[in-house]
Amino acid sequence: MTHTFPKNFLWGASISAHQTEGAYQADGKGLSVQDTRPRDNHDITDFTVAVDHYHRYKEDIRLLSELGLNIFRFSIAWTRIFPNGRGEINQAGIDHYNDIINECLKYNIQPYITLNHFDLPQALEDEGGWSVRSTVDAFKEYAQLLFETYGDRVKNWLTINEPNIMLLVDQKILGKSIPVQEKYQQFHHLMMAEKYAFKLCHELVSEGKIGPVPNISLVYPASSKPLDNQAALYFNSVRNWAYLDFSCFGRYNAVFKDYLNQKNVTIEFAEDDEKMMKSHFPDFVAMNFYTTVTVEKPTKKDGMSDGISDQQSEDIMEWGFYKGYTNPNLQKNEFNWTIDPDGLKTTLQTLYDRYHLPIIITENGLGARDELTADGKIHDAYRINYLEQHLTKCAEAIEAGVELIGYSPWSAIDLVSVHEGISKRYGFIYVDRDEQNEKELARYKKDSFYWYQQLIETNEMPS
Ligand code: BG6
Repeated sequence: MTHTFPKNFLWGASISAHQTEGAYQADGKGLSVQDTRPRDNHDITDFTVAVDHYHRYKEDIRLLSELGLNIFRFSIAWTRIFPNGRGEINQAGIDHYNDIINECLKYNIQPYITLNHFDLPQALEDEGGWSVRSTVDAFKEYAQLLFETYGDRVKNWLTINEPNIMLLVDQKILGKSIPVQEKYQQFHHLMMAEKYAFKLCHELVSEGKIGPVPNISLVYPASSKPLDNQAALYFNSVRNWAYLDFSCFGRYNAVFKDYLNQKNVTIEFAEDDEKMMKSHFPDFVAMNFYTTVTVEKPTKKDGMSDGISDQQSEDIMEWGFYKGYTNPNLQKNEFNWTIDPDGLKTTLQTLYDRYHLPIIITENGLGARDELTADGKIHDAYRINYLEQHLTKCAEAIEAGVELIGYSPWSAIDLVSVHEGISKRYGFIYVDRDEQNEKELARYKKDSFYWYQQLIETNEMPS
């Protein structure tokens, strides 16, 4: 049987600025929290050079056009536009993204731009980051400038990448742990910033569309024990629905509210927040999906822990509410992430059932240690297999009535992983460098490149 995707299905691939661009101080760029993040492992590379996409974007976009993409998801580095987060504008940064956008359009590739992907300006972080209200105001100023500058050509926007994962695995992504009261005040500010982005995009970009971009995956109970099911209810709310209920319904999820009460967290609202929350909504939901999570109810002997250390189930621990559980029914990749294509289908169905909005997958993919052969090939059959399994489930979800409008996996090109360096590769395009040696940063097409190219060309996937 062959799965045929809808005629207008959007085929894409995704990256973020700090994981690809490098040139971290070039042409007036300010420092972001990713540039200053303390590193616990110096055997892996930082983001200073990454894969030098900043200088090689023309070559990269030409390759993406050869791949056949009709959309390209990338993020803008806030610190190239406003080196200090707000105030003085850096024209070189504005020009750079104008060039990137025009280069995409030259090949008929529509940009899907993420306003911010984990790289808050350090200058704002120094003033308190997302814990203080003034960062929401700075974000408004930044979003407004982007919509005014690029909105004539860019019609599709994504707000803030994975605020849920950013707060859940703060130590790994931001390099510091955030106390629980502050964490959920940050939640409120991030979500309000997003509401302003919805409003501004709709006001400033003619025919503009915008969506949130959380990492969503269903949470399974470890067993049919009623208390395991309750643990799954809480973690589903804290990890998934709190964010999307705010974006799409304009309200705090009720289970999440109970969780906050039990943690003695009080959220400070500004005067207009209640009204803003209920007045501005997304046009679609963009969703990143890698794996599902399984939890159980902790027992006393599990001890106490304040946070969650990874998006992988086995590390999740929140005293009294849920504890990560290694799902014995799932295989793992070489970086210990479970693989669950059926979980993607269920997640898509659940999401669509809940919000009735079009969905686009803006991340999904396999991190692996690819090998470049002497004759310049990368035989990544394992990645093709992963993508094929997940896309089969996307096709099934569409057949089951889900309005899935596109698929933009992680990643277009090899990039530096959030905390596992360049050895963990996701791209369709291989970049020849390793952790210690940048070499020539030459680009090579992987076997998955040719596989995806054919899929895009035919719109069909044999199953
Ligand atoms: C997502 C992020 O959570 O996961 C990406 O949006 C990240 O920035 C991706 O690269 C894969 O995670 P990792 O840790 O393998 O880089």
